[in-house]
Amino acid sequence: SRVHRLDLILQHVRNVPDFPVQGIVFKDICPILKEPKALAAVIDLFEEHVRQKHPHTELIVGLEARGFLFGPLLAQRLGIGFVLVRKKGKLPGPTVSVGYTLEYAKAEAEIQADAVQPGQKVLLIDDLLATGGTLHAACELMKMQKAEILGCLVVIELKDLSGAEKLPVPVFSLLQC
Ligand code: PRP
Ligand code: ADE
Repeated sequence: SRVHRLDLILQHVRNVPDFPVQGIVFKDICPILKEPKALAAVIDLFEEHVRQKHPHTELIVGLEARGFLFGPLLAQRLGIGFVLVRKKGKLPGPTVSVGYTLEYAKAEAEIQADAVQPGQKVLLIDDLLATGGTLHAACELMKMQKAEILGCLVVIELKDLSGAEKLPVPVFSLLQC
């Protein structure tokens, strides 16, 4: 059942106080990857959501680094492609990039200029939504490429930080913490 699968996922998220800096409770999703049943539960629930709510999705766009762990699995399930949004300087050009701040750092997100075609229907995926800085930057990249952004998918949403309010599209989260 849905509740059982969500519970299994929750059991495989580890809270790490004061990482990477003092005052942050880091949500470590590594245990999910170590337990095939928990990882399958994540992909099952994402697949169910996309098939029901966004059946015309053409592309999954994943955010470095932990969006890369779930995104390609989901894209394969759906029989569609996967595209990478990386930290600046990692992708061969031509690229477009945008700067952003996140819960505990600053960074620049980059995508290959020809990665998404104008009008393509995309869903963004990451492991976690905190301040929303990272997903917001990725949405900016999608707008630069004239993609049609259908929504964002995350395993964990940190509700207190209200990251979803910053985003131009709905966020679907499996766990709200
Ligand atoms: C983490 C997480 C999200 C982002 C969320 O990634 O995986 O991508 O922070 O924070 P925000 O909502 O405040 O922007 P991080 O940049 O630490 O890097 P990594 O995934 O490459 O380890
Ligand atoms: N990214 C931003 N905030 C985070 C947190 N608290 N745990 C894991 N990843 C994060």
